[in-house]
Amino acid sequence: MKIVSVRDYDDMSRKAANIISAQVILEPACTLGLATGTTPIGCYKQLIKWYEKGDVDFAEVSTYNLDEYRGLTHSDPQSYHYFMRDVFFDHINIDLARTHVPDGSNPDAEAACAEYDRIVREAGYVDLQLLGIGRNGHIGFNEPDEVFSKGTHCVDLTPSTIEANSRLFERAEDVPRQAYTMGVQTIMQARRILILASGSDKAQAVHDMCYGPVTPNVPASILQLHTNCIVVADEAALELCPKA
Ligand code: PGA
Repeated sequence: MKIVSVRDYDDMSRKAANIISAQVILEPACTLGLATGTTPIGCYKQLIKWYEKGDVDFAEVSTYNLDEYRGLTHSDPQSYHYFMRDVFFDHINIDLARTHVPDGSNPDAEAACAEYDRIVREAGYVDLQLLGIGRNGHIGFNEPDEVFSKGTHCVDLTPSTIEANSRLFERAEDVPRQAYTMGVQTIMQARRILILASGSDKAQAVHDMCYGPVTPNVPASILQLHTNCIVVADEAALELCPKA
């Protein structure tokens, strides 16, 4: 793991955008694994600015998102389909036909997950996977568990994740209880992984990811075994880690 220590959220966002734009400049038809949540929003905003300046071109890029709430339609403002268009896709020149998010509107969990696995596998997995980390060490919606998950599957969200995500909903009862998520094995197929963390509420998870035992109880800890993983984290998120 390469740990890049940055000052704050803005610094993290710019550095992450730099790494993603370098990927797209070097390989215009690359495949990007993308993430939702609060953490990557600043990175997407920075990429939009560079797109507007003509510095980065997404015309040939394909994207594969990590997860989606089960039971939300694509046009539901709380869905990750909607989020991705709202914060990123509608502001750049990406071909929407090349963007992929698990189909939360399909109530048949087995079919929806198998279809997403097929799509990601046939794409040859991703060149660069962007990740956030949950306060409980989750990646995508792979929650702490007894075993590491493999392909795309349907998960019951933990109370901690429901509580963390309820800030984005009007009422905690509105947060969906299940989601479809890429599995840990699929995430580990990415040629390169870029995981971002900002703020002291992520400090324990970042410490355990980077320095704890590799265990499915901290799903992000598996990234210690990836041969090309970059952690970009700010001082607050690194406050429990040994100083470099
Ligand atoms: P956040 O979520 O960026 O909203 O903190 C991260 C995650 O749960 O993966």
